[in-house]
Amino acid sequence: MEETLVLVVGAGPAGLGIAACLTKKSIPYIVLEKEDCYASLWKKRAYDRCHLHLAKEFCSLPYKPHAPHAKKYMSKNDFIEYIDNYVSDFDIRPQYFHSVEFASFDEVKGKWLVEAKDTLMKVTKVFVASFLVVATGENGKGYIPNIPGLKDFKGGIMHSSEYKNGREFQDKNVLVVGCSNSGMEISYDLCNSGANTSIVIRNPVHVVTREMIFVGMHLLKYFSLSIVDALVTFASRLTYENLSKYGICRPNEGPFLLKATKGRSPVLDVGTIAEIQSRKIKVLPGIKRINESKIIFEDKVELNFDAIIFATGYKSTSCEWLKDYDYILNKDGFPKNRFPTHWKGNTNVYCAGLSRMGLQGISKDVIAIANDIEMVLRAKLCS
Ligand SMILES: Cc1cc2nc3c(=O)[nH]c(=O)nc-3n(C[C@H](O)[C@H](O)[C@H](O)COP(=O)(O)OP(=O)(O)OC[C@H]3O[C@@H](n4cnc5c(N)ncnc54)[C@H](O)[C@@H]3O)c2cc1C
Ligand SMILES: *[C@@H]1O[C@H](CO)[C@@H](O)[C@H](O)[C@H]1NC(C)=O
Ligand SMILES: *[C@@H]1O[C@H](CO)[C@@H](O)[C@H](O)[C@H]1NC(C)=O
Ligand SMILES: *[C@@H]1O[C@H](CO)[C@@H](O)[C@H](O)[C@H]1NC(C)=O
Repeated sequence: MEETLVLVVGAGPAGLGIAACLTKKSIPYIVLEKEDCYASLWKKRAYDRCHLHLAKEFCSLPYKPHAPHAKKYMSKNDFIEYIDNYVSDFDIRPQYFHSVEFASFDEVKGKWLVEAKDTLMKVTKVFVASFLVVATGENGKGYIPNIPGLKDFKGGIMHSSEYKNGREFQDKNVLVVGCSNSGMEISYDLCNSGANTSIVIRNPVHVVTREMIFVGMHLLKYFSLSIVDALVTFASRLTYENLSKYGICRPNEGPFLLKATKGRSPVLDVGTIAEIQSRKIKVLPGIKRINESKIIFEDKVELNFDAIIFATGYKSTSCEWLKDYDYILNKDGFPKNRFPTHWKGNTNVYCAGLSRMGLQGISKDVIAIANDIEMVLRAKLCS
């Protein structure tokens, strides 16, 4: 059994950010990570051509702004290099191969009891901590909808988190399901790799350029959300006109409102829309069912595909190990409290990186959490 003041679960950007803030305050902590590296989402589960969607000024962790010479929209590899430097600057040493399987609050001791499986040594270790920080991310596991006939599909099935590049799909008929940023960008990548690419778009989405969002984020400092939404929507109309004849409809609510209330991001066009307009990428309605290699769509059209890539999002896995999630999270693994008090639960439990606000949200969460832990410790010392 190992005792520590703060136990952090997960060594993604959120876990590393917490570690840095605690280091600055000389508060001891332990970070447990189930993989063999930090930032495993970026190192292992992001496609090759992935770039940060937001400008670098909105994508840094505490105490370390991006270098002036860094590109405005960083590539995956540039961002990983930034994280590498962050880890060495703050001398963060997560315990790898430690998969947390259980955490509960001991009311009598007033401490968290955490069990982790050491997947190298094949033993279970027990940790006791005064503070617990949930930093296991919003992307715990890929979600694939349960479509009738999917398990008998004759072609390949992949979640967007497993997609690297389009090499293996050249000359294949590939269907991408989901019009998230991942889905749109993967379609573009497939099309460029010579795959006959189609994409299922069922829900209305905003299509914008990353510059529109960049300007919008700055305008939010001076104008209300509804004004910025109106301006961004206006700019999008000028650039893309009416995309409904291509199967893409605009939601009634504005892009920033949708992000803030439902966590739904606008599509930041990386070139996909031009390929859709030239009909190189085909837009299809929802899937009704699958029969072997045939896919039957909601408009009754039937088409054969060699592979399906599901860009249908993720599920949080925090509640699988955090048995007493009720102090801070709902059953779906997201915070009970609304922004901006989402990060704190009763009984000295915190969550970082679950506000659907990307790296900017993570940075705010970890600063608030470290300050709160410091305050609780001070109060304890003085009493
Ligand atoms: C393709 C893609 C592109 C993105 N682009 C952007 C962007 O441009 N800008 C932006 O702001 N955000 C972006 N995001 C959002 C992204 O979620 C964040 O950038 C960031 O990686 C989230 O950090 P995190 O630490 O909260 O979670 P993660 O990075 O997911 O890290 C969580 C860590 O916890 C570990 N873990 C999970 N469960 C356990 C367990 N039980 N025990 C031990 N360890 C565990 C995982 O292995 C992982 O290393 C993107 C996400 C994806 C998928
Ligand atoms: C490409 O895919 C579309 C389905 O969206 C299909 O109608 C067409 O026949 C395919 N083209 C080839 C050459 O297979
Ligand atoms: C877009 O075009 C469709 C028909 O192609 C039309 O029904 C719709 O009203 C148009 N929307 C706007 C906002 O102009
Ligand atoms: C699937 O297709 C085959 C032939 O293509 C047909 O015989 C069979 O009835 C279909 N099954 C279903 C459930 O539609």
